[in-house]
Amino acid sequence: MKGYFITFEGIDGCGKSTQADLLEQSLKARGCDVTHTFEPGGTALGRKLRPILTDGGTELSLFAEVLLFAADRRQDMDEVILPALGRGCVVIGERFADSSIVYQGVAGNVGRDRVRNLMNIVTDGLVPDLTFLLDIAPEQSLARKTSLDRIEQRDRFLGIARQAYLELAHEDAARFVVLDASRAIEALSQDILDSALLRLEHRRYDHV
Ligand SMILES: Nc1ncnc2c1ncn2[C@@H]1O[C@H](COP(=O)(O)OP(=O)(O)OP(=O)(O)O)[C@@H](O)[C@H]1O
Ligand SMILES: [Mg+2]
Repeated sequence: MKGYFITFEGIDGCGKSTQADLLEQSLKARGCDVTHTFEPGGTALGRKLRPILTDGGTELSLFAEVLLFAADRRQDMDEVILPALGRGCVVIGERFADSSIVYQGVAGNVGRDRVRNLMNIVTDGLVPDLTFLLDIAPEQSLARKTSLDRIEQRDRFLGIARQAYLELAHEDAARFVVLDASRAIEALSQDILDSALLRLEHRRYDHV
């Protein structure tokens, strides 16, 4: 049976890594074959690109940034995601093409459709089967990340990203599950597990 691709999306500090880890553990405990990946940085290429993309020390034009994220994503796809899906695994990803559309396309002003079209080429049209959008106000999510400067501009940028995420979810309601990420970790993880198990169960019948 073909694998199943689940992604977590949402603004910085919304809880993607926390919930992806918990879902991985719960699915593994139920005997599922799970591969957990994240970007940028899940591959050897990604580990080299990550500091360029995240430490701000390298001069990068907006579009060059889009392309580096795209290179990282494609490498992760070829090296990790597609082989795992081919083996029938559940693949859990922290961020995928939606992040580029939201961050660089909308909030970064590169152009939503421009980035969306580019992502279609980069991913060969691979779309997650299920995406959890962890929705939260920027003030709340940034407060969780002690290392981040709380600058107003960043709040504004993330506010735009949050709205763009909600629009994507509205347009593709069959794929997205939107959750209030200000809730407690355990309550959220239970809802996420229930949703994932329900979808995985339905998929079984689809393939019979
Ligand atoms: N529901 C929650 N309530 C309170 N704190 C939380 C919740 N979920 C996560 N946290 C805490 O918030 C911080 C950020 O969480 P996490 O690293 O999972 O977010 P993230 O979305 O992966 O962030 P990034 O975008 O930087 O990768 C962590 O310290 C985590 O323990
Ligand atoms: Mg994370």
